Amino acid sequence: MKHWRVEQVSWDRFDPSKVDPEIVPLVKAAAMVERNGDDYAIYLKRVFRDDPDFQRAAENWAVEEVQHGDALGRWGEVADPGWDYRAAFERYRAGYRIDLDANASIRGSRTGELIARCMVETGTSSYYTALGEATEEPVLKEICRLIAADEYRHFKLFYDHMKRYLAREDLSFLQRLKVAAGRIGESEDDELAFAYHCSNEDPSIPYSHDRCIAGYMGRAMGFYRYRHIERGMGMVFKAVGLEPRGRLSDLAARGAWRLLCWRRDRFRAALRREAAPPPLAQAA
Ligand SMILES: [Fe+2]
Ligand SMILES: [Fe+2]
Repeated sequence: MKHWRVEQVSWDRFDPSKVDPEIVPLVKAAAMVERNGDDYAIYLKRVFRDDPDFQRAAENWAVEEVQHGDALGRWGEVADPGWDYRAAFERYRAGYRIDLDANASIRGSRTGELIARCMVETGTSSYYTALGEATEEPVLKEICRLIAADEYRHFKLFYDHMKRYLAREDLSFLQRLKVAAGRIGESEDDELAFAYHCSNEDPSIPYSHDRCIAGYMGRAMGFYRYRHIERGMGMVFKAVGLEPRGRLSDLAARGAWRLLCWRRDRFRAALRREAAPPPLAQAA
């Protein structure tokens, strides 16, 4: 069912001289979150327990997400020999677990669950497109292109199932908007921050959400261009039932772009504070 395989990537084209050191920690952290996709499939299969069609789709989806983790993890090991993808992921799994004991979606409805999934796929699709365009390293470029295409297909998959449930559950526009906005807001929670910690920091360093989210976002947000936000906003609009291309979507994209630039600069300032040597003690 997969559209590509890790072995098909042209690993022999890897060019160490083209590796941007700012991208390496992002790739390592993303590998953790992607690899964790099979846990999310267990949760989805419980939420949609009487829907075998969707359960099968969720299983296939998870196989692709896990492969994203494996491809990014392997690139992380090639770019930084000595880094251990499996060991980093074990650390991540030991410290970060999603709640699998769900009988119903944490989003309040199945339609809501699927809208939240659409938001995640919008985010990943835009992110890998942005990373792939930014990197000069040919293997990472290829991986990002392959992953971004998968993420866009995932968006369409969840969107189609969402439409089916929307007809049944009749979630209001405001309810849909609330779920979408809520899920977007969660991107700065522990899932990514802790992934950054486990894949980039020594186990002896205690986890700090603020330090790690700044480490991740301060770098990641720098790779976006306005066109990525514009396209992403179209997907968000489509998922909540608004016209994806129009004045309102343009306006929202411009607002989101301004917000992203502001957040990016704040995270970068936090990164600089982190990197700065502590102030000298007053001479006695
Ligand atoms: Fe993915
Ligand atoms: Fe995906």
